[in-house]
Amino acid sequence: MSSYKAHFKVWRGDAEGGGPADFTVEVNDGEVVLDIIHRIQATQAPDLAVRWNCKAGKCGSCSAEINGRPRLLCMTRMSVFDRTETITVTPLRAFPVVRDLVTDVSFNYAKAREIPSFVPPAKLAPGEYRMRQEDVNRSQEFRKCIECFLCQDTCHVVRDHEENKTAFAGPRFLMRVAELDMHPLDAAAEAGLDRKRTAQDEHGLGYCNITKCCTEVCPEHIKITDNALIPLKERAVDRKYDPLVWLGNKIRRREA
Ligand code: SF4
Ligand code: SF4
Ligand code: FES
Repeated sequence: MSSYKAHFKVWRGDAEGGGPADFTVEVNDGEVVLDIIHRIQATQAPDLAVRWNCKAGKCGSCSAEINGRPRLLCMTRMSVFDRTETITVTPLRAFPVVRDLVTDVSFNYAKAREIPSFVPPAKLAPGEYRMRQEDVNRSQEFRKCIECFLCQDTCHVVRDHEENKTAFAGPRFLMRVAELDMHPLDAAAEAGLDRKRTAQDEHGLGYCNITKCCTEVCPEHIKITDNALIPLKERAVDRKYDPLVWLGNKIRRREA
């Protein structure tokens, strides 16, 4: 086994402020960045705060930024970096810092609560639901989400624009709206809920300009933009320019 010394800059501080702290630390073959953060904790900075749980890319809690790019600490191998380069680890930029590498991601939980859940079809009892395999597959891709919020952190709509947070749900939750809107058994429309309209009016779909940055950082390789956001945008536009929808709205307005 070979080992070498790497140079790290790890952001330390809290909501009041902070800055990078320098560490020179041993690295062994096969290690990931989270191993190095743990070694720094064990040998040099026992009070360094970092959030993690599974160390297997499945719990979504070790999200941070490595050399400015949102990544999972436990899934980033040290071998992807040059041995001589300084590796910078900073907290997620789009969310408030609690301490060191730990951020307050409650923005995301608030957005999750704003999305009305699946509406079960009234005429079918549980056990009678039937779906085509291709519809199951479509949802399955979105269900791989581990809620690491790297996509939420990287999206420029909120990354540099705190003021957009109220109006914009972010890629993870627009993907949730898309998933429900394309679900063949979702009875939201019968219950008076127009998911395409709410995507635009309440969850800020129009803010997304399909740059695909969210897709690029997703550790589950979910094609957020191509398979969720663009199809949702297409359906929302169809609805807006659908002559029957237009006529229906006009008649309803006249009756009112
Ligand atoms: S594709 Fe849309 S949601 Fe994704 S990062 Fe770009 S603007 Fe944000
Ligand atoms: S869609 Fe991907 S990047 Fe976004 S929260 Fe889910 S797993 Fe993370
Ligand atoms: S520790 Fe669970 S995803 Fe990294």
